[in-house]
Amino acid sequence: MQKIMLTGATGLLGRTLYKTLVKDFEVVGTGFNRATPPLYQLDLGNQQAVIDFLEQHQPDALIHAAAERKPDVCENEPEQTIALNVAASEFLAKQCAQRDIALIFISTDYVFDGKTPPYLESAQANPLNLYGQSKQRAEQAVLAHSTRHSIIRVPVLYGDVSELAESAVSVIATQISATQTTAHDNWAVRYPTHVEDIAFTLRDLLKRPENLGGIFHISDNQAMSKYDMACIMADILGYPQSLLEPLDEPSQSAARPHDCALADSRLKQLGIAHGREFKEALKSILLTA
Ligand SMILES: NC(=O)c1ccc[n+]([C@@H]2O[C@H](COP(=O)([O-])OP(=O)(O)OC[C@H]3O[C@@H](n4cnc5c(N)ncnc54)[C@H](OP(=O)(O)O)[C@@H]3O)[C@@H](O)[C@H]2O)c1
Repeated sequence: MQKIMLTGATGLLGRTLYKTLVKDFEVVGTGFNRATPPLYQLDLGNQQAVIDFLEQHQPDALIHAAAERKPDVCENEPEQTIALNVAASEFLAKQCAQRDIALIFISTDYVFDGKTPPYLESAQANPLNLYGQSKQRAEQAVLAHSTRHSIIRVPVLYGDVSELAESAVSVIATQISATQTTAHDNWAVRYPTHVEDIAFTLRDLLKRPENLGGIFHISDNQAMSKYDMACIMADILGYPQSLLEPLDEPSQSAARPHDCALADSRLKQLGIAHGREFKEALKSILLTA
């Protein structure tokens, strides 16, 4: 059985990756502040601890999902962002290449500028904010270390959350109201993708490891703005949609791309496709939260 190491196993994506992959693989999951058994605590900023962990566990593949992924936090904390998103990723890429471990680096649609969608895996990256720039730099370092290393670009994620505010999608449910008018971005086009569909896709790729290497895009295909998502949530929660106001100009502090639609041509070639209807999936999240 393949042994898979997973960083970021305490995070939004990592928790579902862990739960899904343990059914088919031996999984060694690591987190940082939130790590409790069976997950291990591993500070990716501590290079000796990383080396010792790899020596001890000797995985066949490593999914690297740990990152600082909030664009506004990245702008305000550039040093910590570069240390985790770039330096730690580059170090893992080098250590994995030396040990013949296939690294799978989770990246983002924010490496693109959003001006010319849809983006193929081979499209030129041009990130608009520090978060996207840090992920692009890490992508380049990962690919430079081994042709067996892979980049997995994903769009905005939702799924099982520890609190609704954990995901940039479900947080919208905490911002709308049954009685007061609230305004929501109607400029940026997003493709919310369920973390379980990312996990199913990675499971399928890991079962055919000969296909790994290079860049993959994983994305659901329902295009919507945060305002559109707010309307769907209002419907689910029984709030009047008339209280929702669309904002037709960009409104967030770190620059965001307009539309980074990811074309998943490599997955299509491999016949791997996982997706779900947004409103139905969201209903079960909002009504059980
Ligand atoms: N969420 C999205 O909408 C989205 C969209 C596009 C791409 N992505 C990418 O998907 C990946 C997963 O994102 P996510 O949403 O699951 O992130 P998340 O929920 O914010 O989780 C971040 C993870 O990184 C870990 N971490 C932070 N500092 C660390 C350190 N010094 N050493 C070791 N681990 C550390 C955290 O551990 P503790 O919590 O235990 O400290 C946590 O497990 C990231 O690469 C992100 O860039 C996410």
